[in-house]
Amino acid sequence: MRNFEYHTPTRLIFGKGVVEKLPEVLGALGNKVLFAYGGGSIRKNGLYARVTELLKGFDVTELSGIEPNPKYSTSVLDGVRLCKEKGIEVILAVGGGSVLDCSKAIAAGALYDGEPWDLITYKVPTKAALPVVDIMTMAATGSEYDSGGVISRTETNDKVGYMDPHLFPVASFIDPTYTFTVPNRQTAAGVADAMNHIYEQYFNAEPNDLADGMMEAALKSLMKNVKIVLEAPGNYDARAEIFLNCSLACNGIYSLGEADSGWPMHAIEHALSAYYDITHGIGLAIITPRWMSHVLNEQTLGRFVRYGVNVMGISPELPRHTIAKQSIEATYRFFESIGIPMHLAEVGIDESRLREMAHHVAVNEGLDGKWVYAPLTEADILTILKNSL
Ligand code: NZQ
Ligand code: ZN
Repeated sequence: MRNFEYHTPTRLIFGKGVVEKLPEVLGALGNKVLFAYGGGSIRKNGLYARVTELLKGFDVTELSGIEPNPKYSTSVLDGVRLCKEKGIEVILAVGGGSVLDCSKAIAAGALYDGEPWDLITYKVPTKAALPVVDIMTMAATGSEYDSGGVISRTETNDKVGYMDPHLFPVASFIDPTYTFTVPNRQTAAGVADAMNHIYEQYFNAEPNDLADGMMEAALKSLMKNVKIVLEAPGNYDARAEIFLNCSLACNGIYSLGEADSGWPMHAIEHALSAYYDITHGIGLAIITPRWMSHVLNEQTLGRFVRYGVNVMGISPELPRHTIAKQSIEATYRFFESIGIPMHLAEVGIDESRLREMAHHVAVNEGLDGKWVYAPLTEADILTILKNSL
């Protein structure tokens, strides 16, 4: 097992009605609040009104309209400007991963005198950030329990992951009832995202039984509970189990002591959503079985066999190659069964820019490194993209 350090300073406040504690948590961090949210879902479900009520007594500045796949040139820069102009002391992000990711970038940019893009691209180290508190309304990214955010820059087709310990939220309020209104397509995409976060850790060269067991249980729990909520969106326990799964899946706790994987499917998907602004979880579900098929070989076979038997319930009596192939087929069928379009063509992506995207990923993501679990050249990336059409 490899050496590691693990520290998550975020306070998770989970369950029905927990948002009532908001004034107490925010009050300890400051009075001048940037209240950041997305395109209006929180107005429709009443959360905007409740939060506004709870913020009485605070000096509140609003930043609305943060887009899915949050954009640097609009939302991040607007937020940084507002923080500086108003002397903001704490950011309250209310929404999905996009609102929170954007808020994290704003938090760092607000305490930096130069161009915030330099922080996001690690040209300049992040030395400080405003405290961020969030109220999550989507179960998906795990941004509520990690130190990262993903920011898109449309002009250059970049979608960049930005991680730094300063970006851990101080506190995350997770009330699964807020996810009752998430449309089925988005619920399925969120679960696909969390499952992929697990795959990105499960497929590594130095696994251990504890991590494997946690991840296999998490995958089974997600697969079971998403079926329940797609039929019954108001099933609290199923929503809660999905949410807890999502919060844990991107935090690193599942891969303690293990080897790196390189997160190849995320690297490829980020190009898809940078170039075509598609939903992250849907892009991942499309890429996943194609990546799996592409990297299946004698070296990776053992991981696929274990996954097939322990997660997908395939008979251990079958030949090992058959188990591996069936596990990939079962993964594809599962995503299809929860309503995810499984071809790029169905989300508006044709062949025309595949080469450009493969090149962009190869140049920017370094997936051919020896440390990557299954290294990918530009040609490999292109093949995976073509097979996803
Ligand atoms: O903008 P509003 O009106 O709020 O609507 C949102 C948005 O249209 C809607 N929504 C959110 N909560 C809702 C709701 N609709 C009805 N009821 C609710 N309760 O859902 C839409 C999608 O929201 P978004 O925040 O974009 O979704 P998600 O949480 O999946 O976040 C996706 C972003 O996170 C990044 C992705 O790349 C993408 O940019 N990621 C962040 C990660 C991280 N921070 O660690 C890791 C991930 O791998 C991922 O890359
Ligand atoms: Zn993801």
